[in-house]
Amino acid sequence: MSERPIWDKGGADVDERIMRFLAGEDVRLDQHLLRYDIRASIAHVNGLQRIGILDGKESAALSAALKGLDESVASGQFVLDDRYEDGHSAIEAFLTERLGDAGRKVHTGRSRNDQVLVATRLYLRDQLDRLVAIALDIAEMFLERAAADDRTPMPGYTHLQRAVPSTVGLWCAAFAESFIDIAMLTRSTRGWINTCPLGTAAGYGVNLDLDRQVVSDELGFDRVQVNAMYAQNSRGRFEMAVLHSLHQALLEVRRFAWDLSLFTTEEFGFVRLPERFTTGSSIMPNKRNPDVVELLRASGAVVEGAMAELAAVVALPSGYQRDLQATKEPVIRALMRGLAALEIVPDLVASMEFDRAKMREAITPAMFATDRAIDLAAQGVPFREAYQQVGREIEAMKGLPIDESIAQRASLGGAGRLGLDLLRRRLDEQREDA
Ligand code: ARG
Repeated sequence: MSERPIWDKGGADVDERIMRFLAGEDVRLDQHLLRYDIRASIAHVNGLQRIGILDGKESAALSAALKGLDESVASGQFVLDDRYEDGHSAIEAFLTERLGDAGRKVHTGRSRNDQVLVATRLYLRDQLDRLVAIALDIAEMFLERAAADDRTPMPGYTHLQRAVPSTVGLWCAAFAESFIDIAMLTRSTRGWINTCPLGTAAGYGVNLDLDRQVVSDELGFDRVQVNAMYAQNSRGRFEMAVLHSLHQALLEVRRFAWDLSLFTTEEFGFVRLPERFTTGSSIMPNKRNPDVVELLRASGAVVEGAMAELAAVVALPSGYQRDLQATKEPVIRALMRGLAALEIVPDLVASMEFDRAKMREAITPAMFATDRAIDLAAQGVPFREAYQQVGREIEAMKGLPIDESIAQRASLGGAGRLGLDLLRRRLDEQREDA
């Protein structure tokens, strides 16, 4: 750190090694938050002008300088480095260097404690918007694949044992509906965290009549986070809620990856993936391995680790504690890895090639036993009796035509009535609201 820390009252005893420990990776992580911090700083400046702490000229100069800084960050001209303790100090140093006293006034009525909260919250909000968009793209792709192969037979498994005839449509529509629901969950999380902590300062408010509502509106928050101490107490916990939504998405990706890693084996042989999703072996010349699918499956672990880490860090007494800085790294790491994984999925879904003959072959006569028993029950035989009767006949069973059996699975959500129109409507509604 070459700059003096902003809390230096003159002649502070600063030990380089201890400062490095305190900062940790903070400066590097603040690079992800810096533009949000700048945006919130502009709102704070406008708020200070409103209550007469800054005059019109000062506030205009500060806003212009902050916008300039934002552009330099966006273009990569300004990069945070360990000259500064953190992003907040960097912004203040920049403004002071440019504008002198106006820069030295910018921190009036705020603390780095509410500054980091508001920047993080704006960042989280953007990441949730990304998650909604990706979840809807994934749902869209699965829905298209479901419609294209709505009646294509595929064995249905329970316990990974052959159970009943099913379809590619049912398998794909399961993921489509799941990702529509994940988009809904993610938006409700967005609503939950879309509350403005700026103006709570160090966790106790300030002796100024800050217009918190106007600042909150300017930053697009739904509401003010009223209690100053609660604002600090929510740090890390809101991050956990965000990761919870991401985790739901990655759990489904993991399930899909698992299915694919089975279905692409020679033993199943239902699905082929284009070469770009596979890699070769360094020793076994015969191999193409589904590494992409496997790393997708592993990406949930990053989020699970991060959630555990956050839960451990936020076990704290009321108010700000420096421990909270340790919430930044897991949440940013999990979001980067998780969203990058999800972004691969639409292409993967679009690229699956089905071996329709292989899937048809894998549907054996015994798999019609459930249909047969229900048929008998519909004719008036008590179901338990029908079940036992069909059970005795399994060995001798010859299958119904597969397609007929599927067509008869007419309960809503079954293979014969996928309800794709319902899912389409829900997906479109989610897109319109987005
Ligand atoms: N880097 C710090 C964090 O993320 C900023 C807040 C510092 N506040 C303090 N009182 N030392 O928590």
